[in-house]
Amino acid sequence: MDTRFDLTIEEAAALLRRGEVVAFPTETVYGLGADATSAAAIQKIFTAKGRPGDNPLIVHIGLREQLSQVVSEIPEVAQKLMDAFWPGPLTIILPKQAGIAENVTAGLSSVGVRIPAHPAALALLQACKLPIAAPSANVSGRPSPTQARHVADDLTGKLAGILDGGATEIGLESTVIDCTSTPPMILRPGGVTREQIEAVIGSITIAESLTDADSAPKSPGMKYTHYAPRAPLYMVRGDDARFRCLIAEAQAEGKRVGILVPADQADYGADVVLTCGRIGDPLSVSKALYAALREFDEYELDVIYLAPFYGADLGEAIGNRLQKASGHRVMD
Ligand code: TXA
Ligand code: MG
Repeated sequence: MDTRFDLTIEEAAALLRRGEVVAFPTETVYGLGADATSAAAIQKIFTAKGRPGDNPLIVHIGLREQLSQVVSEIPEVAQKLMDAFWPGPLTIILPKQAGIAENVTAGLSSVGVRIPAHPAALALLQACKLPIAAPSANVSGRPSPTQARHVADDLTGKLAGILDGGATEIGLESTVIDCTSTPPMILRPGGVTREQIEAVIGSITIAESLTDADSAPKSPGMKYTHYAPRAPLYMVRGDDARFRCLIAEAQAEGKRVGILVPADQADYGADVVLTCGRIGDPLSVSKALYAALREFDEYELDVIYLAPFYGADLGEAIGNRLQKASGHRVMD
């Protein structure tokens, strides 16, 4: 398939209406969109990404009026969340409306929905007037794309086109909250923090699998490895001396070592040093994180070490993604 890299909003909307797959920017990451009411269009997303069919997609809408096309019921708690956080990086799981294709939700009776806060995404969703299912626009398992170039690297030839909106603002996927359970449960930490949500609807729960690697995943997507560079990545706990020592040890074994550190940090003698954001500024870290994880693949590396330099709030989502990228490998 020929992939177009210079789509206008009108062209992208027309392609979506014709059942084609188009990548578009959101404030979190780039999405790979298709008509959520067409099983044939949705199947193209699963094929392009190589995504397991049991992992449901998030549906995006441009206006609150479109909600009734997607969900069959809106409890008060969900209403409050929408009032507080939409448009924005919060995906709300609610009972699914019949018009949404079965393969969007992998057969589940619930569906995730959000209104993204990105002018191009909103313009596209309003122009095509369809609910658009869109997972992150990466090949399954790779870091989510935060630039149009990342989408092109992963998916050229597998989609009709890309709407280029520059680098995304947050750089991490939306928070996913399940409002079909009482109290609501966070299935994936993201751009909206637990503290922000609790300030609006009171106490919520956190999926056990987010805190305990052994328990069964509540959200199908949580059981797959994600965001991983090719070389094995380890989270290192300990001080600077420990970090330096681990690097030297690996090099003594003939390994090439990459590290990810905040800007202006020491290089610790590693072979490849990538920087990502600044200490005390989690948004600067989340913004740059996936691009850095992708960049590691441009080097021949045997191991990647990472100091845990993210903080609270958004830091919870950053830590969650890094745990997944590292396959929960920690050097204590
Ligand atoms: O920020 C985002 O959410 C981006 C942009 C494009 O909007 N999208 C995104 O989609 O990250 P995706 O497919 O990469 O992740 C969707 C997550 C998966 O973990 C999936 O299992 C979960 O949401 N999910 C979707 N529908 C669900 C449902 N009905 N029940 C439980 N989990 C669901
Ligand atoms: Mg994804």
